[in-house]
Amino acid sequence: MKNIVILISGSGSNMAAIARVAKKENWHEMPGLRLAAVISNKPEATGLVLARGLGIATDAVPHLDFASREAFDAALMARIEVHAPQLVVLAGFMRILTPEFVKHYDGRLINIHPSLLPAFTGLDTHQRAIDAGCKVAGVTVHQVTAALDHGAILAQAVVPVLPGDTACALAARVLTQEHLIYPRAVRAFFERSA
Ligand code: GAR
Repeated sequence: MKNIVILISGSGSNMAAIARVAKKENWHEMPGLRLAAVISNKPEATGLVLARGLGIATDAVPHLDFASREAFDAALMARIEVHAPQLVVLAGFMRILTPEFVKHYDGRLINIHPSLLPAFTGLDTHQRAIDAGCKVAGVTVHQVTAALDHGAILAQAVVPVLPGDTACALAARVLTQEHLIYPRAVRAFFERSA
């Protein structure tokens, strides 16, 4: 069985989308994948409640308990390693990771970012796309490297930016696509490495 650990900070809708597809497509049997745990840097993240409701083990490592980014990442890594994962999935995990963490999971750490990378790395992607006059926006699943929101692109989906769009409306349109492409990208990761 190949273990997957998902890291979240908030509502966990991408995590839930992956869990639902995993159940529907019976990833447990084929290709032998198990959602081993959902871990958050925020103990109050509603996504943890959602994960427990989906029958997935949860854990929390509050980043505020640590004096440095390095100390937090080391503690997080120790809790991830309990599950010996083949893949670590960042799903709305809103922490910048240290080079040591990224190096440890090199090639088995992926992220979803709500823009068409390499455009709009960082935060406020939807408002920035609207302000720039973009006619399309979207979402990217990519390998994580030490540089923020860089790394090989694994999947993308495009949505239109509509006249009068607000960041909120655009974010909702993009999120619908996130829920479609992230489960597919996770499955494809294992099919590629099989
Ligand atoms: C998603 O839109 C994801 O793309 C974004 O946070 C949201 C999390 O939603 N991630 C980033 O901005 C990472 N830089 P969710 O908790 O409902 O999955």
